[in-house]
Amino acid sequence: MSQSKLVINDLHVAIDEKEIIKGLNLEIKGGEIHAIMGPNGTGKSTLSSAIMGHPKYEITSGSVTLDEEDVLEMEVDERARAGLFLAMQYPSEISGVTNADFLRSALNSRLGEGNEISLMKFIRKMDSNMEFLEMDPDMAQRYLNEGFSGGEKKRNEILQLMMLEPKIAILDEIDSGLDIDALKVVSKGINKMRGEDFGCLIITHYQRLLDYITPDVVHVMMQGRIVKTGGPELAQRLEAEGYDWIKKELGIEDETVEQEA
Ligand SMILES: Nc1ncnc2c1ncn2[C@@H]1O[C@H](COP(=O)(O)OP(=O)(O)OP(=O)(O)O)[C@@H](O)[C@H]1O
Ligand SMILES: [Mg+2]
Repeated sequence: MSQSKLVINDLHVAIDEKEIIKGLNLEIKGGEIHAIMGPNGTGKSTLSSAIMGHPKYEITSGSVTLDEEDVLEMEVDERARAGLFLAMQYPSEISGVTNADFLRSALNSRLGEGNEISLMKFIRKMDSNMEFLEMDPDMAQRYLNEGFSGGEKKRNEILQLMMLEPKIAILDEIDSGLDIDALKVVSKGINKMRGEDFGCLIITHYQRLLDYITPDVVHVMMQGRIVKTGGPELAQRLEAEGYDWIKKELGIEDETVEQEA
């Protein structure tokens, strides 16, 4: 099969009629790892929620395609089946559904009717991935994310990623709240996924994660757009100097100033 490709073209997204994403372009191919960095409130999580079809986020114009198929026309579950994956900044808790049951139905939905994984194979795959991620086996039978610590939730998102093997994954602050050992384990999981069949967008605030997962491309997002794109050295400069230099370079005013004007 040819390499997958997610193409976002001139995307505009509004929440309650307020425009948050203002003409965003991005292309992620299988085999590539992209990172997006940017100040709080610039629309990074909005971008991921909009791509996954969260009803609150209204796409006012632009397009998103996965392998030339219109993602925005798909139902939410179709997007996952088509091979998109989102690890949310704040993973939700689902009471009454065990982690294992959730994973199995998500995986079977991804594989499609007639291609379901056998229970034995599923258990083997889950056990080996949980071992790889150094997770307590008890986590399989707990209700999804219920009472999970912040770090446990993030690690569990990576377990989902490794089980579902999406074509394109968006990982929103997968490193937030992780201790040093957990950060290494989570990175190890993402690096294991790396390959021609897997493209990834990592949203992060810190260079630290990118020390473990070297991105091919780093983007800076400000005020709803990608304003700068470079290599890993861009993340290093942001870590050292913050965002002011980019604002100066591009003549971007602070959002509050813009609103007052
Ligand atoms: N469901 C929502 N309802 C109302 N406003 C929202 C909603 N989601 C996002 N916003 C607003 O949209 C803007 C962008 O939010 P978003 O969560 O995308 O930022 P972010 O870049 O992910 O920030 P952070 O780095 O803090 O996670 C913010 O002003 C936020 O308050
Ligand atoms: Mg966010």
